[in-house]
Amino acid sequence: MKLLVTGGAGYVGSVCTAHLLAAGHTVTVLDDLSTGHADAVPEGAELVKGDLAEASDELLADGFDGVLHFAARSLVGESVAHPERYWTGNVVATLRLLEAIRRHGTPRLVFSSTAATYGQPEQVPIREDAPTLPTNPYGASKLAIDHMISSYAAAHGLAAVSLRYFNVAGAHGRFGERHAVETHLIPLVLQVAAGKREAVQIYGDDWPTPDGTCVRDYIHVDDLAAAHLLALEKAAAGAHAVYNLGSGAGFSVREVIDACRTVTGHPIPAVAAPRREGDPAVLIASSDAAMAELGWRPERTEITTIVGDAWRFTQEHSAS
Ligand code: UFG
Repeated sequence: MKLLVTGGAGYVGSVCTAHLLAAGHTVTVLDDLSTGHADAVPEGAELVKGDLAEASDELLADGFDGVLHFAARSLVGESVAHPERYWTGNVVATLRLLEAIRRHGTPRLVFSSTAATYGQPEQVPIREDAPTLPTNPYGASKLAIDHMISSYAAAHGLAAVSLRYFNVAGAHGRFGERHAVETHLIPLVLQVAAGKREAVQIYGDDWPTPDGTCVRDYIHVDDLAAAHLLALEKAAAGAHAVYNLGSGAGFSVREVIDACRTVTGHPIPAVAAPRREGDPAVLIASSDAAMAELGWRPERTEITTIVGDAWRFTQEHSAS
């Protein structure tokens, strides 16, 4: 297929682009490079540097078989302090993309949604029919986009799939997490092992969990990418399917730090710090729907495998 990948210079977008190219698709990446990196776009994909809201109309006029939409702002804390950036950069920009899709009759859309659309879960594992009560503007902006997509699918025949990511981690060869502002646990812990940070902070050790630290569902970025390719194939005209993507197993912050110690051989000092506002104690996905309907199976589910791939990437990237 001839595909437009927005945000293909970012972490998940670049890994998915690599998978799409390997599967024989033709990929044009649209990225404003505000947080992505031009050298993260895999060889074989064309990079168009441009604004999502401005450039997508002209690009889609060329005739594409589908769009994979990764471009977004994705920092929870920033979204609380500057919600306007999320309503404009995520919701308004995506509305412009949807309008371009409608105008040019692009048949398929796969969208990066998030576990943050659910907020504090009443039940874990979280299923797609759980209440969506986001606790921050980031999650609210992604949920608003999911609603927009549903209505475009119903009214205009778009074949759409939203994939709700839980905690994405790991790397695919030279493609991995390179955020200027890093807030995610695994890259921060690995920065300690790489000698770039003294210690990792544990945000709360008095949560109602077995070891007192928060539990999350870490999904390898390669497994996540595989789901995007399946979603692209299975998307049905006029329908908007929503699937959670996680490995279905929870690991506590302490377990993740221990896995990083095992993988790196570094003692990785950890210090208890106050809870981070808005963090739920436990987030674990039920990915049963993605497995049943997309035929998806996560394969790199061991936490040491996920951390090991991220560590290889961190070392190679630190060296360059
Ligand atoms: N954590 C620490 N210390 C750190 C960083 C994180 O203890 O230095 C903890 C957090 O409190 C949390 C866990 O490690 O319990 C994972 O934190 P991340 O920041 O790596 O990931 P989140 O679970 O906060 O974020 C994920 C997605 C977001 C999404 C959010 C929804 O990455 O996109 O879930 O809650 F918005």
